Amino acid sequence: MSTADINLIRRQLMKILGLMGASMLGSPLSGQAAPAMLKKKIPSSDEYIPVIGMGSSRTFDVGSDETVRARLASVLQVFFGRGGRVIDTSPMYGSSEQILGDLLSVSSNKESLFMATKVWTEGRDEGIAQMQASMRLLNTPVIDLIQIHNLLDWEVQMETLSEWKQQGLIRYIGITTHRGFNHEQIAFVMNNFPVDFVQFSYSISNREAEQLILPLAADRGIATMVNRPFQRGDLFQRVKGRELPAWVEDFDCSNWGQFFLKYVISHPAVTCTIPATSKAHHMQDNMGAGYGRMPNEQQRQKMYEYFDSL
Ligand SMILES: NC(=O)c1ccc[n+]([C@@H]2O[C@H](COP(=O)([O-])OP(=O)(O)OC[C@H]3O[C@@H](n4cnc5c(N)ncnc54)[C@H](OP(=O)(O)O)[C@@H]3O)[C@@H](O)[C@H]2O)c1
Repeated sequence: MSTADINLIRRQLMKILGLMGASMLGSPLSGQAAPAMLKKKIPSSDEYIPVIGMGSSRTFDVGSDETVRARLASVLQVFFGRGGRVIDTSPMYGSSEQILGDLLSVSSNKESLFMATKVWTEGRDEGIAQMQASMRLLNTPVIDLIQIHNLLDWEVQMETLSEWKQQGLIRYIGITTHRGFNHEQIAFVMNNFPVDFVQFSYSISNREAEQLILPLAADRGIATMVNRPFQRGDLFQRVKGRELPAWVEDFDCSNWGQFFLKYVISHPAVTCTIPATSKAHHMQDNMGAGYGRMPNEQQRQKMYEYFDSL
């Protein structure tokens, strides 16, 4: 597929999104301002970020196939069109950084982007070389957030990240884990080092983070970025063929993706989540979770009791 074809798809999508914006999000013609996605504050700064971001492991590791790349360009178009800013990637995710860099270099949304990647290697020089490579691949002289992926060689990488932050090469420092691994060690780093973000798994069927990490993040003033909000897609299998219960309308939820995401982002200590998808229509569903009313504590309990009973 040629660049002209990609641009044509992009223009057509913008047109569709523009129409949807008028019909679904409030129309400027009616004199009403379009509602904006919910944003939450990064506690270590005055910056607010949208609650729904985007992950890129597997979904953006697609190599050079132009047709697949064009499909991902449309996923990004929906993401930005519906108010997304935060994109999470890693050198661990194969060609994802490269593909994001390529697609974002021709995107008009570069200004609003909040780019998060990771360092995932051992050794000071190796860490520096990897982060410099990320900057080249992502086409940016400053990365908003670099996280130490799964705490690999974290004492060494933390020192470099602190220096880079002082030099203005990154704006925030983070640490990550997944599936409930290493929560004690994550808590130790949160308690003793100046991290701005912590990333971990949390979902309606994996609520372990509610015990230690989420309360600690709130207490220490650390932003939280939730990975695997769909348990890598497994949650959709659990509800396959089922209708949503009627009471979800009380918090403006219209599909299962929104049900799972609203559960996550309505936790008071969650700053944002980064669901991954390779499909524009799934992105459209998922972004809707950041709009409208959110479930309160009682409704959150009803949500997980209902889900646990399935
Ligand atoms: N240690 C770490 O630092 C760490 C670990 C894990 C993950 N992460 C980050 O967190 C991100 C999210 O985690 P994840 O990718 O593992 O899992 P996830 O976001 O929980 O699930 C992704 C899966 O859900 C499916 N999906 C998305 N929206 C859907 C919808 N509306 N309807 C049906 N299916 C839908 C996707 O398939 P389709 O493509 O078909 O939509 C994909 O297979 C990662 O991409 C990565 O950036 C970081």
